[in-house]
Amino acid sequence: MNHWTDVCALDAIDDEDVLRFDHAGKTYAVYRVEDRVYATDGLCTHEKIHLADGLVMDHVIECPKHNGRFDIRDGRALGAPVCVNLRTWPARVHEGQVQIQLEAAGPHD
Ligand code: FES
Repeated sequence: MNHWTDVCALDAIDDEDVLRFDHAGKTYAVYRVEDRVYATDGLCTHEKIHLADGLVMDHVIECPKHNGRFDIRDGRALGAPVCVNLRTWPARVHEGQVQIQLEAAGPHD
């Protein structure tokens, strides 16, 4: 079963910014754009660089290493050098807290 996990207060992420969130041995990138929140895997699919060190422009995260870009709404890789999409996670604001919905650890995790 999936469950919502607290990340931080909404105020802890500036508009058009991204925060690194480490949880249960995995790393995520959590974004705030125009008071909506989004979450993706935290590492670039090109060379496993932390995307939270990158730049958010509208709904696009630009990787800090080779400037690969992903759409944070659906994880779509937007062109070379990135060609593998990012995994996305449901995100919401609940009582002022940013939350992401993660899969409960299964037998293969
Ligand atoms: S590591 Fe992200 S674009 Fe190369």
